[in-house]
Formats: sequence, C-alpha cells, structure tokens
Amino acid sequence: MAVQSDSWGSRVGLILAMAGNAVGLGNFLRFPVQAVQNGGGAFIVPYLICFLIMGIPLLFIEWSSGRFGGKFGNHSTPYILDSMVKGRILKYIGVFGIFTNIAVAAYYCYIESWTMSYVYHSIIGTFEGMNQADVAGFFSSYIDIGHSTTGIPYEAIIFYLLCLVINTYILSKGLKGIEKVAKIGMPLLILFGAILAIKSLTLGTSGASEIFPNANAWDGFNFIWTPQYDSIFDLKVWMAAAGQIFFTLSVGMGTVHCYASYLEEKDDIALNAVSAGFMNEFVEVVLGSMIVIPIAAGYLGLDWVIENAGFGMAFQTMPYLFQQWGSLIAIIAGVLWFGLLFFAGITSSLAMGTPWIGFMRDEFGWSQNKGAWSFGLIALIMGLPTVILFQQGVFDEYDYWAGTVSLVLFAMLETILFSWIFGMEKGWKAITTGADIQVPIIYKYIIKFITPVMLIIIFMGSLFKPKDNDWSGNIANLVSGKGWSLDNGSIIKTITHSGIKEHLASATDPVIIAQLQDQIFYLNFARLMLLGLFLFICGLVYAAFQKRYKEGRNTL
Ligand code: ALA
Repeated sequence: MAVQSDSWGSRVGLILAMAGNAVGLGNFLRFPVQAVQNGGGAFIVPYLICFLIMGIPLLFIEWSSGRFGGKFGNHSTPYILDSMVKGRILKYIGVFGIFTNIAVAAYYCYIESWTMSYVYHSIIGTFEGMNQADVAGFFSSYIDIGHSTTGIPYEAIIFYLLCLVINTYILSKGLKGIEKVAKIGMPLLILFGAILAIKSLTLGTSGASEIFPNANAWDGFNFIWTPQYDSIFDLKVWMAAAGQIFFTLSVGMGTVHCYASYLEEKDDIALNAVSAGFMNEFVEVVLGSMIVIPIAAGYLGLDWVIENAGFGMAFQTMPYLFQQWGSLIAIIAGVLWFGLLFFAGITSSLAMGTPWIGFMRDEFGWSQNKGAWSFGLIALIMGLPTVILFQQGVFDEYDYWAGTVSLVLFAMLETILFSWIFGMEKGWKAITTGADIQVPIIYKYIIKFITPVMLIIIFMGSLFKPKDNDWSGNIANLVSGKGWSLDNGSIIKTITHSGIKEHLASATDPVIIAQLQDQIFYLNFARLMLLGLFLFICGLVYAAFQKRYKEGRNTL
C-alpha cells in the first residue's frame, strides 16, 4: 500500500523543524519551574549530565532508527522497530510512539490555546490596570469553563478548538507546511526571547517595592546558575532532570523517528541531531532561564518565586509584571511573550501529529488530508476532558502517564532494543553512515552501557520509589529483612491511588470525603481514556499486521 512518501524541502528546514519539535512550552514553562523546585543550581549539574549521557544518545538512537525504518517505507515507530528487529511483540512497543503523541498533543494544545488567548487579551488591553491578584484571578476564571472573561461563551473551549484547527490545517499541508512554520516561528521565537531576556537582565532592583523590598532580577538568575554539587546523590533531582531532558528534547515520544524517517540513507543524521539538540539546549538553558524567573524575582522577590513556582505561573504573573513597564510596552511584551510561547508550542504539537499520519498513510493508504483531520478529531476527543475537567485533575493525569511515565518507559525499551538486540555494531553504523561529523567513539560505549543502565535505574527508581525518598534507610531495611516501603509518589502506589485513599481513610468531613471520591473517579476516567487510546492503536497495529501478511509484505 505504498503511497507517495513526503520529504523534507531543505536541510535548514529539517533542522529548524526538528529543533522546533524539541523547543516548546517545556523550555519556557517547565524548565524554569523544574529548576526552581529542585534547588536551582542543584538541578543544573544533573540536568547537564543527563543531556550528555541520555539526551544526546537518545537523539542518535532515534534519528538513526527513524532513517533506518524510512528506508523500508516505515514512518512511525511500530514498523520502524519491526524493520530493525523482527519479533511479534516489538510492533506493540512501538505503539507508544503514536499513543504518547496523540495523548500529549491533546492536553498540550490546551496550553498552546492559552497562549493564543493571552496574545489576544494583551492586545485588547484586558490586563491594563490589573494588580497581581486580578491577573491571577483572570487565569482562574479563564480555566473555569462555565465562566467567560470576554463575553464569548465557553471561551477556553473556543480557543482550544481554534488551536486544534490551526494545527490540523498545517498538518494537512504535509512536511512542507511544518517546515514553513518552523522557518518563520523559530527565528521569531529566538528574537522575541532575546528581547525579553535583555529586558529581564537589565531590570536589576528597579522593580523592588515596599511589599517586596528585596526583589532583584539577578537573584533569580543566580539561583539557577550557581551550581551546587550536593545534589549529586539525590535520586529525586536526577529523576526530575532526566524527565525534563526527555520532555524538552521530545525523546521517547516517536516524533524524532518520524521526522528522520523522511531522510535518505546518504543524508547526515549525526550533525543534524547534535545541531537540533544544542539549539534546543540554547533556547532552554539560556533563554528559558532568563525570562520568567528573573522577571518574577525582580518584582516579587526570589522567595515568592520559590514558593509559587508552577506551570501556570507565567500566565498568573507575567501580564501583571509587564504592566509595570507602562501600558504600551505591556502590550508589546505580552505579544512577544505569549507569541513566543505560541510558536514554541505549535512547532512541537505539529510534530506530534506526524507519527499518526505516517502510520495511517503507510499501512492503510490514507491521504495526508485524511490523516491530518483524523488526528485532529482524535486529539479533540482525547483533549476535551482535559479542558472541561482541568481542575478535576484530568490534565495532570494525562501529563503524568503520557507525558512522563510513557516517555521514560519507551526510551528505556528502545535503547535496550537498539543497543542489545539490533546490536551496537549495526547501531553504530546506522548512526555514522553519511555523517558530516566524526561522532566521538565514546558514544558507542555510552549508548551500549551507560544510557540503558541509567534509564533502567530511573525507571525502576520511579516504579519502586521508597517511602519519603529514603533510599539508604529502605535498602538497609530490605537487607535486614524488614521489606521495602513504597512512597505514595511511586508509580506502583500511584496506580492504586494510595495517597488519596490514605486521606480518605482519615477524613471525617463528608464534603472532603465526597471531593476525594470524585477525584478518584475523574482520575480513573482519565486513565480509561488513555488506556482506550492505547488499545485502539494496538488494534490498528494488529490490523496493519494482518493486512501486510495477506499482501505478503515482509513482517512477522
Ligand atoms: N519538546 C516539547 C517541549 O519542550 C514537547 O515542550
């Protein structure tokens, strides 16, 4: 069922699209929050090490696997993995590379739609004259679906739909459409980011007020950038650092495989992978750390920032902080900041649509158009609950299972497959064929030994996280036969809602009891949606396998 395959227009376009895939909301919203929540400079050392020993190796693995599978006409992970190692089960491991993208796109586009709405509100001057509490209150009303901030009913849903339609429309134009958006969006994003970063670093203490007399933008910057080595043995910080590396580089997702599968065998992947990876890191560690935290620290003080760091912080504070620069500059800064976030978001969400489209085209002969609009529809069905039930925790539940656990699990499995089953000799050849740089040979050993071991430690560590994160105490208990006490934050205890059930057992207030029971209900609902999606894709992979079998196309 070979349908004419798509292809990249130029190398610059490919690198920008791949960098755009990586550079996303994670760089500007997730990274600063992770850094602040994990001790600032204490986070940076594990973060940079994770980039070198997991991020870069995974980029090499995924670019080379993608190009390898593309040679056989496969553009999504189920059959990319199948073309590398024959085995009935492997295709189903590849399901993650479609599932994760649809599930993440579903809630990711919701944040992307906030950025569109905030550009609109910055332009019409909604935030003018608002104090900090008003701006925070605006955000709460915005996400409260029944409430409207503009008079447009169900405003948050309308912007979400608009965002999905824009994504779907661009996807329907194929790789050329994505390339065009990346060529416009990436330079603009870097320009907007640089302007805001310069403004942030020249703030100094000028925002200090009577309420926050010690506010200083440089405190925020120094907090992130003064390395502290005492965190080297804190597994929690390592997990957060690794999680951020996966999320920001979009590895363990399936998008990198898909983009790379449209390359020819003679095309370079080594230099491309390194360029896109370093471009992402520049945007993340340089621009990402220079905007929200220093500006917020400049007006509200570092202590406030540390206490209030969270994903929504940029929406709850930045419009107010921009107001302090005068109403005209506030409009410009609002457009630059939320516009930057929009470009960052859309170049990533577009990538998330491509594995599904590639799969349906390869296996069932669907057109680009049909693939794109069906992706939009599934993302809508999956995403509406995250919008409507945002405050009930559905959004966070998706982010946990699809945006965190699945990434690490898939990255671990694909690394083991690549290094040990496909084999490192073949793997190294796949990485270095056509390479425009000499890939340091040390990476052959890192990919074979260090990356899989690190991934196994991280995955197992999250699965069996000990109570209170006390590793030494629990290991001692285990050795002395007292067993292992799991933390409520471990994956295993999260599955059984242990933390909520503990609260439930000790709660006496009927209102609280009802709230906790509702919470379990909504979380289960979110899980059912995710499980349904996963099984649906498994079904499609099975149908594709049957079809290939009947057509005599090589597969096990
Ligand atoms: N890599 C994308 C981001 O950082 C998903 O937002």
